[in-house]
Amino acid sequence: MDLGVIGPTLTLRVPNERDAPALFRLASDPEVTRWFSWGPYQREEEAHAYIRRLPTQRASGEQLDLLVVHHEHGPIGITGISELSRRDRRGMVGTWFGRDHWGTGANRESKALVARLAFGPMGLQRLGAYTNVENGRSEAALRGAGFRHEGILRRWHRHGDRQLDVGMWSILREEFEQTPLAGIPGEIRGTLPRGLVFAPEEGTAA
Ligand SMILES: CC(C)(COP(=O)(O)OP(=O)(O)OC[C@H]1O[C@@H](n2cnc3c(N)ncnc32)[C@H](O)[C@@H]1OP(=O)(O)O)[C@@H](O)C(=O)NCCC(=O)NCCS
Repeated sequence: MDLGVIGPTLTLRVPNERDAPALFRLASDPEVTRWFSWGPYQREEEAHAYIRRLPTQRASGEQLDLLVVHHEHGPIGITGISELSRRDRRGMVGTWFGRDHWGTGANRESKALVARLAFGPMGLQRLGAYTNVENGRSEAALRGAGFRHEGILRRWHRHGDRQLDVGMWSILREEFEQTPLAGIPGEIRGTLPRGLVFAPEEGTAA
């Protein structure tokens, strides 16, 4: 069974080629990709190319990107864990949604579901997140989800020909359990690729 996390209104699952038109539509909005080094998508082929890269990244333990599917509205965006460190049991979470889905509660639920996977069967101890220092919405969204601001990474991110300062945020496994997000139920289905299990003794995917 394909990997997925099922919550009250959203399911996180591995994207496939059939999701390319929806991803293209959502990420062809320049407001959505404004803070990213990629996008906005100009052609559907870019979404296909993105989806084709994911299986290798999952198998190698490099990155886990999941499609966020609203139970009524269908695909609404992506949440993923990257920069995974096996030695340190940590990764960085990043999320984007189509603009219609900002401020709807999808962000908090998706963070709860991804944290359940990360701190459960993946066995991570820490989830970090980056923000552009001018992206107040993203900062407020992370704070609202229980992340703490740790500081500024100076000239961390190359965006076009500019070298940008970046905010570093994090939530620890034990902190997640104390946030309201921990009360959001999430059922994990399917099997994690072995490369994405960082503490095999601490949990197994169903
Ligand atoms: C970042 C993103 C995933 C957050 O999801 P969201 O649904 O918009 O976030 P939420 O509604 O949970 O939280 C946003 C908070 O920012 C506040 N906010 C909105 N605009 C703001 C601004 N310009 N400055 C500061 N706070 C702002 C909102 O009031 C809300 O706070 P509240 O929950 O206390 O009311 C979504 O906006 C998105 O996809 N943005 C484009 C991609 C992106 O920037 N990703 C993050 C990269 S670091």
